[in-house]
Amino acid sequence: MKFFIDTANLDQIAEAQALGVLDGVTTNPSLMAKEGITGKNNILKHYVDICNIVDGDVSAEVVATEFDQMIKEGEELAELHDQIVVKIPMIKDGVKALKYFSDKGIRTNCTLVFSCGQALLAAKAGANYVSPFIGRLDDISTDGLNLISEIRTIYDNYGYETEILAASIRHTMHIIDCAKIGADVMTGPLSAIEGLLKHPLTDIGLAKFLEDYKKGN
Ligand code: E4P
Repeated sequence: MKFFIDTANLDQIAEAQALGVLDGVTTNPSLMAKEGITGKNNILKHYVDICNIVDGDVSAEVVATEFDQMIKEGEELAELHDQIVVKIPMIKDGVKALKYFSDKGIRTNCTLVFSCGQALLAAKAGANYVSPFIGRLDDISTDGLNLISEIRTIYDNYGYETEILAASIRHTMHIIDCAKIGADVMTGPLSAIEGLLKHPLTDIGLAKFLEDYKKGN
């Protein structure tokens, strides 16, 4: 399973990279705004800064919603760095853009996916990644993990190579459950990744080992 961190915060990206288990980064306009990154030039520079920290794919989202503008913006993003994956929203012009970029060999991540039908369209259009937002589904009393499971079945039925990128991860158990289902990638906050480390028996066991070592020295 690939681990992506879902943030535009450079310190957190560097911390996750230093842990040695990071495979990429996802961002979106809200995450950029949260870090105070505004204005086209600053945003483009920030993507390059992220690429220079992490070894792996960096999703950069277009803000255009019409085909021609999406293509222009996506091509500009793709030219920034070879680690950039162009993030395209699941709308009609977005599906056309996914197909265009796929034909051009520009990698894409189809975002804002909330149904199997949308995931099927993204795969048929040649998206490299599809991002079902499981946390936002859970927020409205709908089973986000079930969507991951259904997309897994559909993609396996037909051998689609689009990678299932479980997004909107809110906590550590989301990561574990997505891994059991067979999501190819997860993107979540640093706290959810670090949660995987924790077990009280590890802490108790280590304290005892260190205590016993001190007794003998
Ligand atoms: C995915 O790429 C999105 O950036 C993200 O996972 C959305 O998560 P949220 O629902 O926590 O905003």
